[in-house]
Amino acid sequence: MKIAIAADHGGYRLKDELIPYIEGLGHSVKDLGTNSADSVDYPDYAAACARAVVSGEADRGIVICGTGIGISIAANKIKGVRCGLCTDPVMARLTREHNDANMLAMGARIIGDELARGIVKAFLETEFSNGQRHINRINKITALEEAE
Ligand code: RB5
Repeated sequence: MKIAIAADHGGYRLKDELIPYIEGLGHSVKDLGTNSADSVDYPDYAAACARAVVSGEADRGIVICGTGIGISIAANKIKGVRCGLCTDPVMARLTREHNDANMLAMGARIIGDELARGIVKAFLETEFSNGQRHINRINKITALEEAE
């Protein structure tokens, strides 16, 4: 798959650490920054990654900030995004199986690198379950988006 990845200054080190790991899993990676510890605003990086996903330029997106909270909130403002903030691989598996999440958020100040690799692997390797109850719920999320 084509994976877009972006982070703020709180997440860029983990982003850079994960890129070769994701490539090693057989995916191509588009790095949307940031690339230093200089302070930036996470909504800008969330939006860049989210737009790469909803435009079809990327199949999935990964965003990282200090906690993962701000960048996931911002990503979920972009129409068509379902971004799950995950702190363990079970959450990553379930956000794919149940929510058909097209984006993953993580907090670099919350989780270690090895845990992040496990989360990314589960997120990238799990398919949506396609269960009708999950489809109905995702359709309701889309309807909420359309109603705003
Ligand atoms: C940046 O200091 C920090 O606020 C950001 O990385 C993130 O944790 C926000 O939710």
